[in-house]
Amino acid sequence: MRRKLVAGNWKMHGGLARNRDLLDSLVQAMGKGGSADCAVCVPFPYLGQTQELLKSTAIAWGAQTLSEHAQGAYTGEVSAAMLVDFGCRYVLVGHSERRSLYGESNEAVAAKFVAAVKGGVTPILCLGETLEQREGNITEKVIAAQLDAVTQAAGVSGLANAVIAYEPVWAIGTGRTATPQQAQDVHAFIRERLAASDALLAQRMQILYGGSVKPQNAAELFGMADIDGGLIGGASLVAQDFLAICRAAG
Ligand code: 13P
Repeated sequence: MRRKLVAGNWKMHGGLARNRDLLDSLVQAMGKGGSADCAVCVPFPYLGQTQELLKSTAIAWGAQTLSEHAQGAYTGEVSAAMLVDFGCRYVLVGHSERRSLYGESNEAVAAKFVAAVKGGVTPILCLGETLEQREGNITEKVIAAQLDAVTQAAGVSGLANAVIAYEPVWAIGTGRTATPQQAQDVHAFIRERLAASDALLAQRMQILYGGSVKPQNAAELFGMADIDGGLIGGASLVAQDFLAICRAAG
């Protein structure tokens, strides 16, 4: 049985006082752990605060992107080693907002993935198609190209310490969730594609679903055979909602 993971992605939201309230509520409710793993991916400036508040709890934390470089003259960038300094277990790689708004290509995402693995931070690799691509019946082709770029750069063994998140772009922040069956179909496709290279790795891979996950739909999504948890945007900013989603995974 794969353990479930629920990861929050705060995106560019937060503030010192508000973060403290949110993290304190999470710690009070599940700081000792539950039957599912739980993590929050916060903006860079709040990593120190998050580390301080979560360090002796069962809740993990991480960042939302990283540089593909280990160090050097890259103004504004943050390396994997810097994330390790702040205790990050996870880093999101290839979120659709990074791909569409900041021009991250499949190859750029793959380079960041490799940097995370080399640096000892578990990448949560985000894959997903746009509405236009889904309606054009090329969802699997798009997902395959996104995944293959990473397997080529990192090698299949490079995925051994990674998590995958399927996030259909049309479901992110829109209130329009993929149906459990739509999500399950893509998750099964991802697992099969991995299994063609390494059956055991495919079996062990945690594949999260993201896109308008709410307390009301979480249990049904997490009940599907190949959905191993969630990557939560908006609802991760509301303690009661995020906690309810974590409970739905346990
Ligand atoms: P929402 O849960 O707000 O749709 O965001 C999903 C997401 O992008 C998580 O990374």
